[in-house]
Amino acid sequence: MLTHQIQTEFSRHFGSVPLLIASPGRINLIGEHTDYNDGFVLPAAIDKSIYLGFAKNGTRNCRIYSLDYQAMDSFSLDELVPREKGWINFLMGVTAQLLRAGYPIEGFDCVFGGDIPIGAGLSSSAALENGVGMGLSELFDLRIPKLELVQFAQKAEHEFAGVKCGIMDMFASMMGRSGHALRLDCRSLEFAYFPLSLGEYELMLLDTRVEHSLGDTAYNTRRDECQTGVETVRTQFPQVNSLRDVSADMLDAVRNHLPGRVYDRCSYVVAENQRLLKSCEALEMGNLSAFGDAMYASHEGLSRQYEVSCEELDFLVAQTINKPEVLGARMMGGGFGGCTINLIASAYVDTFLSEVSKAYTNTFGITLKPYRVTTSEGTRRV
Ligand code: GLA
Repeated sequence: MLTHQIQTEFSRHFGSVPLLIASPGRINLIGEHTDYNDGFVLPAAIDKSIYLGFAKNGTRNCRIYSLDYQAMDSFSLDELVPREKGWINFLMGVTAQLLRAGYPIEGFDCVFGGDIPIGAGLSSSAALENGVGMGLSELFDLRIPKLELVQFAQKAEHEFAGVKCGIMDMFASMMGRSGHALRLDCRSLEFAYFPLSLGEYELMLLDTRVEHSLGDTAYNTRRDECQTGVETVRTQFPQVNSLRDVSADMLDAVRNHLPGRVYDRCSYVVAENQRLLKSCEALEMGNLSAFGDAMYASHEGLSRQYEVSCEELDFLVAQTINKPEVLGARMMGGGFGGCTINLIASAYVDTFLSEVSKAYTNTFGITLKPYRVTTSEGTRRV
């Protein structure tokens, strides 16, 4: 349906037939704020995507139409500098990476749009960046390896959107596989697919519909705090390069030299990596209830020690406690808004939704938005 719309709009604006790409958003089951600490994450690509159409235009200019914003913008290949704000940065950012790496990109036209809610923490920007990378690789027949495209997307985000994000979002969107989560070691980039057999349970997202503005700044501050922790640990344990190499004992050994806040941040990350490895074992054994417990523990750490949650997220998680039909819940992604992810009995979804929506509106005056999600294939040509 959406691909059809992309084609129609493409022909309306540019008068030609585009090559089509689909690029999904992502969820993350567990392993939050671990990616930029060389740790483990367990994300999956989802059945909400951005679709993009591309065609060459024989010039040095790139004309882009956003279906969702119903807006046209453009940039020249000879002037790729970040703009103040806006979606065009994601397209310019990726194009700049490809050119810098020596790939022979020429002018192109693009129409894009999709159904990944924006600002909900489902990585619509990573999906867009991956889609641009793969689109250009296909359009100019460059055969760029997927991992390289993922790295271009991450660099584009750093340089053109100003967020020093880890690699999880792009990796999950690009490498996702239907029916599976993927466990990624963010240090070696080795990964393994984990079948998600949830039986009578499913994953449901609850969108707080808030996006607290301190998000990006706080994200970069957390990175710095983790780095401070690593440097202090290294004074006694020189073999340490990142929090991935740090144990709870090492952290305790330098505790007196760390500001309390930094200790809490690091201690959360160290525990979250351990939790992730254990919860993957639980998943393999089909022990969903142990997996759910790990989700709750992850939320607790994110809220109290890492301090990236907010009132609305904490409220939604608290609503699930003492409800045996919900096995686990936690905030997902960077934090300060966005969604919670819930592992919930399918038969209970409707009842739960009507209860929690009422309570949420009563408390915050905001209409809660639920998304029932399933896993999907990663970025691909359609
Ligand atoms: C955001 C970033 C990711 C990751 C998560 C937290 O989504 O883009 O790289 O750090 O936050 O796990």
